[in-house]
Amino acid sequence: MNKMIKLTLAAALAASSVAAVADIKPFEAVEYRKGIFKAVKWQFGPMGDMVKGKIDYDATEFSRRATNLAALSKMPLEGFRPGTYASATSALPSIEDDWQTFADTMSQFQDNTAALEQAAASGNMDEIKPAFIKVARTCKSCHDKFKD
Ligand code: HEC
Repeated sequence: MNKMIKLTLAAALAASSVAAVADIKPFEAVEYRKGIFKAVKWQFGPMGDMVKGKIDYDATEFSRRATNLAALSKMPLEGFRPGTYASATSALPSIEDDWQTFADTMSQFQDNTAALEQAAASGNMDEIKPAFIKVARTCKSCHDKFKD
């Protein structure tokens, strides 16, 4: 492919992806982020049950969920778009007003879930438990501040 065609193609692709993002309706962004958090809960719940000893600890299963959780933690932020705090959501408008704090809390969530994924790979509950608690605290601190 010659250079000119390559450049034209890159520009066309960039333009089409911008258009696709601009077309997102507020309710779609709300549905998207809620869906991600439903998946977060789905993964995190059984991990909590294992940490608390409600169900037997299964290292492979725990690790699989920890890996999924770390991947999911990178996904919600893009769903918090301007103008999506009015209806069918329990996200507070303070997210928009204090975006930096919200984005920083999301980064902590990503760091803490990555640390939990690492701890999970050790298969050692003495390492897993504190890492799990740290993630759980991040959920709570964000919800206390930014969720109804
Ligand atoms: C950085 C902030 C932040 C972090 C971290 C966070 N959440 Fe949330 N969560 C939110 C916000 C904001 C909403 C509301 C989304 C909406 O209604 O638009 C939400 C919604 C939810 C929901 C409801 C989804 C639905 O059905 O509508 C669940 C469940 C949930 N979070 C679980 C968790 C769990 C479990 C963790 C930690 C493992 C977590 N969240 C971490 C901010 C966060």
